Amino acid sequence: MTRSETFAGRTLFVAGGSSGINLGVAEHFARLGARVALISRSAERIAKAAAGIVDAGGQVLGIAADVRDFSAVDSAFAQTRDAFGEIDIVISGAAGNFLAPAAGMSSNAFKTVVDIDLIGTFNVFRASFPYLRKPGASLIAITAPQGARPEMFQAHACAAKAGVNMLTKCLAMEWGPAGVRVNAVSPGPIDGTEGMARLTATPELEAALRGKLALRRYGTRQEIADCIEYLAGDGARYITGAILDCDGGMMLGDASADALAVPERA
Ligand code: NAP
Ligand code: COA
Repeated sequence: MTRSETFAGRTLFVAGGSSGINLGVAEHFARLGARVALISRSAERIAKAAAGIVDAGGQVLGIAADVRDFSAVDSAFAQTRDAFGEIDIVISGAAGNFLAPAAGMSSNAFKTVVDIDLIGTFNVFRASFPYLRKPGASLIAITAPQGARPEMFQAHACAAKAGVNMLTKCLAMEWGPAGVRVNAVSPGPIDGTEGMARLTATPELEAALRGKLALRRYGTRQEIADCIEYLAGDGARYITGAILDCDGGMMLGDASADALAVPERA
């Protein structure tokens, strides 16, 4: 089998698939032969994303659905199953974020991000369950370093992604016996994304963050798609409940000191 056929005959469902990292994952799996379903709030953005996959020769279904609306998500899974058969891989990546000091943030601002990231991930994974191939399905949440370490002005996103991490582990325990694996990928800063545009709005902030990463660069959407290909694939068949950091070393902490320039005996 060539690499291009690896996911032929399998169905991928991507929540939050109209742009950025999640669309990159959908495009990658379409190239590997998977049938792909995409959902996000905007019918226009979903149609544009789906058209791009069709133009590249992929098979795709684009559906407008808000992850905060359980019945809309359930209906999207039913439509996907009717069009493509049982679902093999589910990506829960819909999210919202902005920088806001907690002392000035409204209760509704905090709730909105928790509703999209955490309740949305519960809705997506819970709604998927009846439609999954069992055994064999693989569910992957897109989390973030904020889920495991605090960040200033992101109390809402940190709390939401920490919940996503724990939800991933709880579902992995409950659904493992049915042959369903549940994991998460935690991207570091990824070039050219809405997320990083919102968090590092100036070239100076971007350079400062790059300088702290062990690998000294932002990641690419393709690097996250490659990581998800591994987790969703047969090579990871004994992995469940894992949070896989794909972050250039971000979770290691501040690596800005030039250790290699320090003399052997300072
Ligand atoms: P993005 O392009 O803004 O992607 C977010 C997606 O979620 C969009 O397709 C958006 O489409 C959809 N969405 C938002 N609210 C939704 C809702 N209520 N229901 C359904 N869909 C919704 O952002 P990104 O930066 O690529 O981030 C993608 C994922 O990676 C997120 O989970 C984020 O937390 C994670 N992440 C990103 C980075 C980074 O460097 N960018 C780092 C770590 C983790 P519509 O507007 O059409 O709804
Ligand atoms: N700072 C402080 N509060 C903010 C804010 C900001 N930058 N942006 C929105 N809010 C508040 C709003 O004022 C509102 O609270 P209020 O009712 O007390 O006034 C609350 O958040 C909800 O805002 P609303 O615009 O109604 O929410 P929405 O559901 O239409 O959009 C968001 C969700 C706010 C997360 C929006 O930024 C979004 O659509 N994000 C998706 C893209 C994204 O964030 N990508 C990066 C992924 S990591």
